[in-house]
Amino acid sequence: MNVLIVFAHPEHQSFTGTMLQEAVETLEEVGHSVQVSDLYRKGFNPVPGRHDFLTAHSDSLFNYANEQSHAHQNQSFAKDLRMEQDKLNWADLVIFQFPLWWFGLPAILKGWVDRVFANGYAYGGGRWFGNGAFTGKKGMLVITAGGPETAYQSDGIQGPIQDILAPLERGIFLSVGISVLPAFVAYGASYSSDSQKELVLDRLRDHLQTLESKPTIAPPNPTDYDETLRRKPQ
Ligand SMILES: Cc1cc2nc3c(=O)[nH]c(=O)nc-3n(C[C@H](O)[C@H](O)[C@H](O)COP(=O)(O)O)c2cc1C
Repeated sequence: MNVLIVFAHPEHQSFTGTMLQEAVETLEEVGHSVQVSDLYRKGFNPVPGRHDFLTAHSDSLFNYANEQSHAHQNQSFAKDLRMEQDKLNWADLVIFQFPLWWFGLPAILKGWVDRVFANGYAYGGGRWFGNGAFTGKKGMLVITAGGPETAYQSDGIQGPIQDILAPLERGIFLSVGISVLPAFVAYGASYSSDSQKELVLDRLRDHLQTLESKPTIAPPNPTDYDETLRRKPQ
């Protein structure tokens, strides 16, 4: 598979950085081709604006989604976005790798999604979920979290990890047609000993070596939903 890792950690010598290295090596060892979009290293600008576009649909009112659609039709996305979209087009699997920050994506990665998954390109015109623009691709989250695993169980203080993963997996991957592979979470990353980190790296290697046999969650089919977008009775 062609694998794009979108990496969002400011320090390569962090554990998240070590996991990136491990991921690239493992994926290449088992025969995948890998590209990394290293957002901090390239100074990716996460802030949307008129700089996203080489031409303007409207010079007065700035409607971001309309400008995105216009740019898609006229192939006038700015170079930084075109480069990311080309990588996305190439990828069979998209991995978001990041430290959990405030129960979500670091802002630089959220901004990457806002700007790169553009209206017209990634969604729009009835293309979403099972009809999505990226149907056939897979997506996966690889996360480091400061809290221990027990904190993310149903009776843990942070609540179930799935409550955090689901909005990302459904709201980003599934909504543009990307099927979801099981996430990999490294808990307690801030406080782990070297031997605990080694175990996490072993687990990560196992997870990545068997990607192609892992079950995926497929995007829901829009025809199973009524005009109010509620599921039709079976
Ligand atoms: C801005 C910020 C927000 C954070 N929010 C969370 C959080 O919501 N839940 C959590 O478990 N850890 C949180 N952490 C801890 C990080 O997830 C943790 O430091 C990181 O995963 C450790 O990986 P590293 O050693 O590679 O940096 C946060 C850390 C920072 C800096």
